[in-house]
Amino acid sequence: MAHNNNYKNIILIGASGYLGKHILAEFIADPFFNVTVLTRASSSATFPSNVNVIKIDYSDKKAIVKALVGQDVAISTTGVGGLTDNFDRTLIEAALEARVKWIIPDEFTLDTTHPLAAKVPVYISKMTIAELLKKHQSQIAHTLISTGAFLDWGFDNGFLGFDITNRSVTLYDEGKHLISGTTVPHIAKGVIAAIRHPELTLNRRIFIADISFTQQQALALLEKYTNAKWAVTNINTKDELKNGEEYLKNGDFMKGIRSLIMSIAYNGEGACHFEGKTSNKALELETDSLEKIVKEAVERNKAAH
Ligand SMILES: NC(=O)c1ccc[n+]([C@@H]2O[C@H](COP(=O)([O-])OP(=O)(O)OC[C@H]3O[C@@H](n4cnc5c(N)ncnc54)[C@H](OP(=O)(O)O)[C@@H]3O)[C@@H](O)[C@H]2O)c1
Repeated sequence: MAHNNNYKNIILIGASGYLGKHILAEFIADPFFNVTVLTRASSSATFPSNVNVIKIDYSDKKAIVKALVGQDVAISTTGVGGLTDNFDRTLIEAALEARVKWIIPDEFTLDTTHPLAAKVPVYISKMTIAELLKKHQSQIAHTLISTGAFLDWGFDNGFLGFDITNRSVTLYDEGKHLISGTTVPHIAKGVIAAIRHPELTLNRRIFIADISFTQQQALALLEKYTNAKWAVTNINTKDELKNGEEYLKNGDFMKGIRSLIMSIAYNGEGACHFEGKTSNKALELETDSLEKIVKEAVERNKAAH
């Protein structure tokens, strides 16, 4: 595939995380790119020996600027930790100083321009970063990548409401609304494709997704591949929104975030439904079917038990 020669030096921040690991693997596999990893001084993460790793204290802004000098693209996947610390703001300030050409911030979720996204603390951080990047886009380019639900991750850990081990599901609004989602290896390929096609991605929000589906469709396939009838619990997304707000009020941050995200993703109001607006075709990204994704999730679950 043709490459754009202006964007060759890539620095990844958060590359030891769940998503970051997959993105790092894609860059390592492509000899066109020079990839560097920035990691926290306090981190115990390890990286493949052929990768250039810079380990610094993130409170030392000068050191971050120094690490960024000469980099064309900075990609952040610093997760809940980075979002809570507003790390991407520090990264943008340092990248402006170091004259980095392009930032891909830690977005990678449902459409955070949806009004309901403002209910979720980590999304407020993503929204603030998006605004800041728009403000500076004449000095540094950006791309916001909306991926919808991480499907392999979400089926494996129960986040999306499906518990494969116990053959049980929580259906939100009877599981009738469509949501979009992507497998994590396909997100990593999407990041590389976005860099290969600046003409389609610079200073924009792009949507990438393998599929759109309802929970009912996923449940039917899960019952087929587990060869079992699943136990169903029903919950209304309006009630789940209240639950999320209550959890947050009581200091249960992770539970609160999950309930709020589930409520917003599954309520049928479009924040996590990207049909008709994805860039998969334009970026020549392959997609997996719901059937394949579910079948593989059931196989992974079997292998783990
Ligand atoms: N749509 C979905 O379903 C879904 C699901 C999961 C995640 N996500 C999104 O994916 C993105 C990445 O999340 P993730 O779960 O892959 O992240 P993660 O596993 O928590 O990894 C984050 C990495 O960032 C670094 N880090 C940790 N705390 C930090 C801090 N306070 N400041 C700066 N760096 C820090 C660490 O790397 P070092 O140790 O190397 O420094 C860590 O390995 C996020 O935007 C998240 O919202 C979306």
